[in-house]
Amino acid sequence: MIIKRVLSGIQPTSDSFHLGNYLGAVKQWVALQDAHDAFYCIVDLHALTIETEPSLLRKRTLASAAQLLALGISPDKSTLFVQSQVSQHNQLGWLMECMAGFGEANRMVQFKDKSSKTGADSARVGLFTYPMLQAADILLYQADLVPVGEDQRQHIELTRDLAGRFNARYGQTFTIPQGYILKAAAKINDLQEPTSKMSKSSGSAAGVIEIMDAPEVNAKKIKGSITDTGSQVRFDEKEKPGISNLLTIHSALSGSTISALESEFAGKGYGDFKAAVADLVVEYLRPIRNKTLELLSDEGHLIEILHQGAAKARTVAATTLETAYKRLGTVA
Ligand code: TRP
Repeated sequence: MIIKRVLSGIQPTSDSFHLGNYLGAVKQWVALQDAHDAFYCIVDLHALTIETEPSLLRKRTLASAAQLLALGISPDKSTLFVQSQVSQHNQLGWLMECMAGFGEANRMVQFKDKSSKTGADSARVGLFTYPMLQAADILLYQADLVPVGEDQRQHIELTRDLAGRFNARYGQTFTIPQGYILKAAAKINDLQEPTSKMSKSSGSAAGVIEIMDAPEVNAKKIKGSITDTGSQVRFDEKEKPGISNLLTIHSALSGSTISALESEFAGKGYGDFKAAVADLVVEYLRPIRNKTLELLSDEGHLIEILHQGAAKARTVAATTLETAYKRLGTVA
């Protein structure tokens, strides 16, 4: 059996992952590491495309690593590393910038979205070249599969185009990766605005379940989640988006089907149901939060795990970069 290579990345842009990050992405990363050769990268260089306080970048990079480990990424099964520790990312990133057309890069919707917030004129050039660095992240490892959310589809397409163009012009160098678009095992929505996805840029913190929040805080958020009309616990995204979201969360964490939950809570009110979801979430997250705090309490050990990951990543990345340079005609 040929073991496929998987690569994905996550930006260290918050102190805590939220439940949507876990159920939408990290849970799949954990599942993939068993039967794949998985590389998971904390993309700190990508986080620099938006002005970031140095102490926060450091804190969030370590917090991301600790949470990924606590959520089940195993350093024995996966290569977990920090992007800036593997200098080949920047080096191949430049080569990808030299492969990409300006117009092509200008069509990336994520750039348009993110730059429209400040106006394209004050957006960083790095925000514009972000997708070429992302292509380098993927191609350095000859990844077959790239598990990402729907919003990254266009960046994966660009990566495939750039790899194909390079291979056609200079000879076979890169594996053409496939996007593995995560059907968010559970699409988790905001607790206060249950028709939009749970997200760190959400309007109010009350709608987002943070993994690192104290258990009481999360229990309160769930009990205080928006109350739909009616009184029956039933999955109906149109009429009862709030309750449907809580059913999805319960089902994702408990493994019960939605219909089993509807029967279990038949005749009970929203209050009882919310209390049950709050208990479930709190007990699910408690050991994960504790494990994260434990990992963060020994920074030296955590950094050592990341150094080992970076060393493994570097050997693969260096081989690919060397081939790419050679194909391009640089003098070694
Ligand atoms: N752009 C991705 C996101 O915002 C993060 C990312 C960077 C990534 N490099 C990657 C994802 C490589 C997959 C593969 O979610």
